[in-house]
Amino acid sequence: MKVLLLGHSGQLGKSLLRTVPNNINLKIDTVYGRKILIEQNLKNIINNFAPNILINSLAYTNVEKAENDDGVYDANSYFLKTISKVINKKTFLIHISTDYVFDGNKNTPYQPLDITNPINKYGKSKLLGENNIKKYIENYNIIRTSSLFSKNGVNFVKKMINLIRDKKRISVVNDQLFIPTPCEDLSQLIWSIVLNHSSESVENQLYHFSGNGRALTWFDFANLIKNALFYNCIIEPQKTINMNFKAKRPLYSVLSSKKIINKLDYKSLPWEEYYLNKTINELIK
Ligand SMILES: NC(=O)c1ccc[n+]([C@@H]2O[C@H](COP(=O)([O-])OP(=O)(O)OC[C@H]3O[C@@H](n4cnc5c(N)ncnc54)[C@H](OP(=O)(O)O)[C@@H]3O)[C@@H](O)[C@H]2O)c1
Repeated sequence: MKVLLLGHSGQLGKSLLRTVPNNINLKIDTVYGRKILIEQNLKNIINNFAPNILINSLAYTNVEKAENDDGVYDANSYFLKTISKVINKKTFLIHISTDYVFDGNKNTPYQPLDITNPINKYGKSKLLGENNIKKYIENYNIIRTSSLFSKNGVNFVKKMINLIRDKKRISVVNDQLFIPTPCEDLSQLIWSIVLNHSSESVENQLYHFSGNGRALTWFDFANLIKNALFYNCIIEPQKTINMNFKAKRPLYSVLSSKKIINKLDYKSLPWEEYYLNKTINELIK
């Protein structure tokens, strides 16, 4: 099975690289860097390697910066149309999307077919990317996930460890509810999709996947991290509205992972007891 991974230098990309099964022939782009968005460059890689599966973990993920940058649409929306032009009809695309396609007005876990209504530009760009896939690509799985964390890249756990160590007092929002997702867990799930994929099947599916365990707020999450460390930083709860964010955030973005868990009979380890402790230990050692 030949798999091309786009976005290998990102947080999830690195985790996919660390967990790749032995029998996968994996390729990453080591030539074009940011110029991979140019159609001819992507075409060169696709034509040379002829992947059976393309994993797209490439995205513009800076939610705040995106508010004033229409460039967010290049990677998150238009690139999906570029992909559609250069891949073979049989190539199976596994694409990662986000809980930020929802407005947060629900109070029970979001199911894949719930109505989308993004409230920030990042969410809008990711939804347009999903729609381009549905419109132009023949064979795909879209996996929406939420709040990734790992020892790599930019993420809340890493940021909090540094803040809790360096500051006496910090404010963290306590009115957004979500389920954190360990990159390692999502990576294992993606590899399980790859290994279960048959080259004959065409399965256009939209899935949700977040960590195994409870939903919580960023404030609760920060306190869990603090409790695992030995610093006296005071964490103050704060309302999102008081935080001066440029981008609006959904106040509720809990995803239901039932559909994909049932489909693959996938067993996640708990995000809190297993992955959070593991990640903190990796980051502080
Ligand atoms: N992080 C989260 O909490 C979260 C939550 C929900 C969904 N997601 C989704 O999960 C996926 C993976 O996220 P992540 O946290 O791994 O993202 P990330 O760490 O920001 O990595 C993004 C990857 O995309 C590449 N990239 C970004 N803009 C590019 C451009 N213009 N041209 C070429 N490459 C570009 C980056 O390359 P460079 O290294 O060169 O920048 C990097 O390899 C994304 O689809 C994201 O939308 C993430």
